[in-house]
Amino acid sequence: MTSITIRAASAADGEALGRMGAALARLHHDYDATRFMLPDDIEAGYQWWLRREIDNKKAVVLVAEREGGLVGYGYGRLEGKDWNRLLDRHGELVDLWVAPAARRAGVGEQLVEAVVAALLERGAPRVLLGTAAPNVAAQRLFARLGFRPTMVEMTRDAPPGAAKKSRPGRGRPSSDG
Ligand SMILES: CC(C)(COP(=O)(O)OP(=O)(O)OC[C@H]1O[C@@H](n2cnc3c(N)ncnc32)[C@H](O)[C@@H]1OP(=O)(O)O)[C@@H](O)C(=O)NCCC(=O)NCCS
Repeated sequence: MTSITIRAASAADGEALGRMGAALARLHHDYDATRFMLPDDIEAGYQWWLRREIDNKKAVVLVAEREGGLVGYGYGRLEGKDWNRLLDRHGELVDLWVAPAARRAGVGEQLVEAVVAALLERGAPRVLLGTAAPNVAAQRLFARLGFRPTMVEMTRDAPPGAAKKSRPGRGRPSSDG
């Protein structure tokens, strides 16, 4: 079996990160096109955002490398107390992606464990993640790694024509807007 290296992402990985982030966004948009937005130029948006996060002390951006090529990435960040979610400070596993050809070989597990370890090391008392309801493959992996289900998100769309159009924004969707 070819060995996998998990390492911190660098600015030079920006293009690959943009491509993988966009693939993750498209997967979610395909699950539910109204819940998961797909902004124009999604590759550039992810590239911009993840490169910015590489320099953020509260974020962890890791890549999985095999034979000199990137086959996945994991992205997490420290989050503060959130009264609306009844959630004390914590780490959030935000993104996880493994290239289709590299799946079922333990890359996802290594990325999750490495992002979680980095968040715990930076003081997170626990790590949370969200996973799309139909994504049973990811849920199986997370359950196997010790994550328990704690919240169920539900979405109801406005009737057609009732919602105001949102203005275009810059970059990758993020929890801080
Ligand atoms: C989910 C994902 C990261 C798993 O990566 P991976 O490298 O295949 O994961 P690993 O090889 O470490 O672990 C595989 C485990 O994941 C689960 N799994 C992965 N693919 C699965 C599938 N198609 N069906 C069911 N379970 C699956 C199983 O528990 C599997 O363990 P097993 O092989 O012993 O049955 C990868 O499929 C992926 O990138 N998917 C698209 C993006 C995504 O869903 N990201 C998570 C968003 S929350």
